[in-house]
Amino acid sequence: MPETRRRAEIIGWGMYAPERVVTNDDLAALMDTTDDWIRTRTGIERRHIAAEHQATAAMAIEAARAALAVADADPRDIDLVIVGTMTPDTWMPSTACAVQNALGALHAGAVDLNAGCSGFVYALTMAHQAILSGEHELVLVVGADTMSRIVNQEDRATAVLFGDGAGAVLLRAGEGSAGVLATLLGSDGSGADLLAVPAGGSALPASAETVAQGLHYLSMDGRQVFRFAARIVPRAIEQVLERAGLTLDEVDWIIPHQANLRIIEAAAKRLQVEESRFCVNVNEYGNTSAASVPIALCEAVERGQIQPGQQLVLVGFGAGLTWAAAALRWGPSVQEAPAVFYRRWLRWLIYRWAELHTRWLRFARSRAGRAWGGAQERWRRMRRKRE
Ligand code: COA
Repeated sequence: MPETRRRAEIIGWGMYAPERVVTNDDLAALMDTTDDWIRTRTGIERRHIAAEHQATAAMAIEAARAALAVADADPRDIDLVIVGTMTPDTWMPSTACAVQNALGALHAGAVDLNAGCSGFVYALTMAHQAILSGEHELVLVVGADTMSRIVNQEDRATAVLFGDGAGAVLLRAGEGSAGVLATLLGSDGSGADLLAVPAGGSALPASAETVAQGLHYLSMDGRQVFRFAARIVPRAIEQVLERAGLTLDEVDWIIPHQANLRIIEAAAKRLQVEESRFCVNVNEYGNTSAASVPIALCEAVERGQIQPGQQLVLVGFGAGLTWAAAALRWGPSVQEAPAVFYRRWLRWLIYRWAELHTRWLRFARSRAGRAWGGAQERWRRMRRKRE
């Protein structure tokens, strides 16, 4: 008998990686490091870095539009946009609002979620709960970070580790056997100092002094974070599988946060699982923070690695300290559907309309807009008088 309970099913996926690639050798020309050190300690070979004009929202929008195209969905049907990020374009307003607006997702709520590098899996869990509640049918989840903007490019201990990018999934309420099976969230705030951007928040607002001291950059105790990750990744996987009622043998693919190949190897060893069951692309992108899990998921799907009916575990960890895991069954209905011609055009039109509409609203709210509105009002009054 097929199961008939409400589930959140992934029906679309997309990713964006900036064009500019920085190799280990490029970094070795700028700082005291070597390709060999970076490769052997982290597994990273290159990373993609955002162009000057790009920030988190721009990448998130690209990934989100790709996910909508795969699902062949209408952005106006989205109920909620959640963006997992710790590098929003601005502290206020949220990046999610920029994404919602650029998509023309007129009926969607929008919110950012900061759970460090666990941001995407956290956001996926929130989206799953929003759908299970019965309040939402279609939820867009994005993980996006521009780490190059908060990493000190002169600090070899961190500059070599991070890259920029975005990944997105579209979740729809379904009643089949596919979708999110179980989730797990964790936090240990005692480790706040291990991975942090000390200044720029309400505790230590940005000032000339904080900038002079480099406190607006990410600081990290790499060894402690490594120990935490090597311990928490296998534990989170085991716990989420227990909640899902699955054994490790029943899992086809594990998609971990891509921070360091050695962390993934340590987790595989501890779980006694072949490393080949872990989807890995840290060599290509480095640590893209909240974007790393959805980018790895997207690439695995696009390679044809993940097949309908297969069971996956996504697992993230990061600043907070935080960790999160989700077990899911990939659905038969999530094969890439050929986009209906007119719907592709409709989406294109909605995106252009969203752009123009935003310009118009901003104009109308500006002084010039108010003056224009006043002139219109005077003209209307004059016409009424003449009549
Ligand atoms: N190139 C060359 N040498 C470097 C270097 C670099 N880019 N970065 C650090 N080193 C040096 C250190 O200064 C140190 O030198 P010392 O022994 O003379 O003091 C030496 O390499 C070893 O440093 P160590 O910190 O012990 O290296 P490690 O094996 O722990 O690897 C990390 C460092 C950062 C790669 C590793 O700790 C790590 O990946 N931690 C987890 C980080 C992470 O995942 N963060 C994000 C979580 S979301």
